[in-house]
Amino acid sequence: MELTYADVCAAREIVRRYLPPTPMWSYPILDRVADTTVLVKHENTQPTGAFKVRGGLVLLASLPDPQRGTVTYSTGNHAQSMAYASRLFGAPCTVVMPASANPAKAAAVEAWGAEVVLTGDDLAAAEEHAAKLAAETGARLVSCGDTVELLAGVGTLYQEILEARPDLAAIVVPVGSGSGAAAATVVAGALAPACEIIAVQSSASPAAHDAWQTAVLEPRPNRTRVDGLATGRPFALTQRHLRDLADFVLVTDDQIAGAQRVLARDAHTLSEGAGAAALAAVLADRQRFAGREIAVVCSGGNAAPGELAALSQ
Ligand SMILES: Cc1ncc(COP(=O)(O)O)c(C=O)c1O
Repeated sequence: MELTYADVCAAREIVRRYLPPTPMWSYPILDRVADTTVLVKHENTQPTGAFKVRGGLVLLASLPDPQRGTVTYSTGNHAQSMAYASRLFGAPCTVVMPASANPAKAAAVEAWGAEVVLTGDDLAAAEEHAAKLAAETGARLVSCGDTVELLAGVGTLYQEILEARPDLAAIVVPVGSGSGAAAATVVAGALAPACEIIAVQSSASPAAHDAWQTAVLEPRPNRTRVDGLATGRPFALTQRHLRDLADFVLVTDDQIAGAQRVLARDAHTLSEGAGAAALAAVLADRQRFAGREIAVVCSGGNAAPGELAALSQ
């Protein structure tokens, strides 16, 4: 199954029942640092602190039998999304997270009412355990990357951007599984074909980037400290759409931390690493973007306590 623009339009009807559009601001002081006009789409203002909540709402609203419950795996923000939506729909939800998951994210997932299972070293181990739980309990296994309803939901954020500013030269999108960037290509194709969608991933976890470059879907090292981007394998559905990207770039974890500091200083914005990755890509290649009006997606604000402490150093 592929994502279509009609899917995103249908998702918009669901999302707007629960969530107002998020703000998108520019900051002259940030423009000066970036040498261009940068609009920041503030998904960090969502009730769960990240854009993923749009996808969870659409998925839960689409389930024929929400009472069957879901089992999913996540580094944290997809988890909060599923927990938030499951609570709204009165559905059971279990989330498997790596044992090293951001403790603030794990606590928030539990507070939304989901059951959290912390296990394994990374997302791959969490995925394996989630599949086992789903087989044992009969709950529906939800893939964070290969579920078309999740892509449709997150696509609504790109509708909001491009309805407000169809003239943008580019939107820079952070990538883990690629759900946001995949949806962005579909929405831009329909609303603003001249707007480039540029994906960015951490060079320490380049699975989606490398699959985009080589067209081979295989696991890659997954060593980023940016938990929202810590995905060790590409996903087939998102990769089919990522072929329509204008470009896919890599940034280092240190460049991402630098962009987090810039967002805090110049855009009054507390971002987690993944939420600053798009700005990091712009700051790493100022010449490319100079003089063009672009948007960066601040996809989340759920920084871990240790991450916050490191930012102030
Ligand atoms: C804050 C944040 N930004 C970006 C991403 C990457 O999104 P995707 O997995 O849709 O590529 C994630 C994934 O969890 C995230 O939590």
